[in-house]
Amino acid sequence: MPTDQYEAGEKTDGWRAILGLPFIYSTVQNILGANRVRRVLADQYVKPIPGMRVLDIGCGPADMVNFLPGVTYVGVDHSAAYIEAARARFADRGAFHVGDAGELRSYEQPFDLVMAIGLLHHMSDEQMEAFFTIVATLLTPSGRFISLDPCYSDNQSSIARAIIRRDRGLFVRPATGYQDAADQVFSHVEMDVRHGLPRMPYSHAIMVASQTQL
Ligand SMILES: C[S@@+](CC[C@H](N)C(=O)[O-])C[C@H]1O[C@@H](n2cnc3c(N)ncnc32)[C@H](O)[C@@H]1O
Repeated sequence: MPTDQYEAGEKTDGWRAILGLPFIYSTVQNILGANRVRRVLADQYVKPIPGMRVLDIGCGPADMVNFLPGVTYVGVDHSAAYIEAARARFADRGAFHVGDAGELRSYEQPFDLVMAIGLLHHMSDEQMEAFFTIVATLLTPSGRFISLDPCYSDNQSSIARAIIRRDRGLFVRPATGYQDAADQVFSHVEMDVRHGLPRMPYSHAIMVASQTQL
């Protein structure tokens, strides 16, 4: 039976509790190589262009802003502490709102890109499908949705699997688990499984979805 620490699709017990502090979160992420992952994501998937309208849901302290020069950025997270940190660091680079992915209000849509970096593995299948339905209404007709999450994979190392099993998110799945839910809502879904992007053994599911051929 889930306890309070699982209510938001997240384990927050023990050492994980301090990751709720924005500075600690960003520092640990950077040591583990999260900026390498963000660089790959920006260069190979997002391909930002000036003026592109981006909504980043589950933005955390908004470290991704540094990799999206020139875009119009809106970040949303249900952690008030993360949003406060994002505002303190990037007030002139975007707008930041406290909000839950399950109850997104109408931000300054439509967006060319909606991102969810490290968010879907905090959602059950039902929450994820409902989330995709909302996301689809926030996009321009040719807009894209991009997500990145840890995943289980047959050909990942046992170390990667062990690290991923200890993630804060309660719903880490094989890549097909993320893709199957997106297929219910989007006409076109592409999935890459990437191993070893950060500085440690790890496997990421990177998904790009849209209603028009990419
Ligand atoms: C793994 S962190 C990723 C943060 C950021 N995107 C990054 O790449 O550093 C997941 C983020 O999702 C947020 N989150 C989890 N569930 C959420 C929900 N239902 N609504 C909004 N934010 C959520 C958490 O507060 C956390 O900031």
